[in-house]
Amino acid sequence: MKLLQDKVAIVTGAGKPDGMGRATAIMLADAGARVVVTDLLRGEKDRRDLDDVVEEIRSRNSIGSAIAVAVDVTDRKQIDACVVQTCDAYGGIDILFNNAGTGAGAGPFLELSHAHWDLNYRINLKGVADFCQAVIPVMQARGGGSIINNSSLSGLGVVPLLAAYTATKFAVVGLTKAIACEFGADNIRCNAICPGMVETGMGKSEIELFAEAGESKEQTKRRLASEVALQQRWAQPEEIAQVVVFLAGPASGYITGVALPVAGGMAAGL
Ligand SMILES: NC(=O)c1ccc[n+]([C@@H]2O[C@H](COP(=O)([O-])OP(=O)(O)OC[C@H]3O[C@@H](n4cnc5c(N)ncnc54)[C@H](O)[C@@H]3O)[C@@H](O)[C@H]2O)c1
Repeated sequence: MKLLQDKVAIVTGAGKPDGMGRATAIMLADAGARVVVTDLLRGEKDRRDLDDVVEEIRSRNSIGSAIAVAVDVTDRKQIDACVVQTCDAYGGIDILFNNAGTGAGAGPFLELSHAHWDLNYRINLKGVADFCQAVIPVMQARGGGSIINNSSLSGLGVVPLLAAYTATKFAVVGLTKAIACEFGADNIRCNAICPGMVETGMGKSEIELFAEAGESKEQTKRRLASEVALQQRWAQPEEIAQVVVFLAGPASGYITGVALPVAGGMAAGL
């Protein structure tokens, strides 16, 4: 019997080829789960990328299975439709990984636009809250479940130039603890992970934001990594995914309401 056999999971923001969502969806399926991989589809490439996650899971002969569903987490109707589709396909929901997020357009506080604040709020916080709200009644009916929210080390401490991102990621930690307290009696656990620097599209896009004058991309990347205690290196998405699998499964059955840094000891004092 595999760790997550017969469990049903939804992963948001799972389409990007080098993202934590894709890596986690694959690992959940390898652990036996039936996985609904979702993402915002901006065009044909996004559709292909999302379908490719399902193909990868099938081609690995994962004991689990997967289907792809387009979901923009800023649209509550699409979230509700995804929950219905998941229940129709797999009979319920046990695990939700709220992974979708954005940091696009960050910069000096006085230059942050209204649109930037709005997008950060709607994707990073409201999208997470809406997905929890849609899924919790299904978990209650099933006798429990595990929700994992992807916050950030920026949800525990302050990184310059990321005010809107930081504010929403702190809020995700608060939301996680509130849900953990309110639904513990229903055997629903809710935890946040707080990754540091992860080598994904989003992680790499932040390198430019933090570049100092005259620095190459590689130099900036190395300088940022110098703050990581463990081998001064960035994390790979799979190193985050295995923590999500742990928080989804029975080995973490008495853990709820935590915000777990997965950051190689970066900012270990937080
Ligand atoms: N990369 C890092 O260093 C890092 C560090 C800490 C936390 N995080 C968080 O990890 C999560 C995953 O990021 P990643 O680094 O794997 O990058 P990523 O770009 O692969 O993941 C972000 C995903 O969110 C999706 N998304 C954006 N807007 C959406 C919307 N409206 N509806 C649905 N999906 C939407 C994107 O399409 C993408 O698939 C994010 O929440 C991010 O804030 C990243």
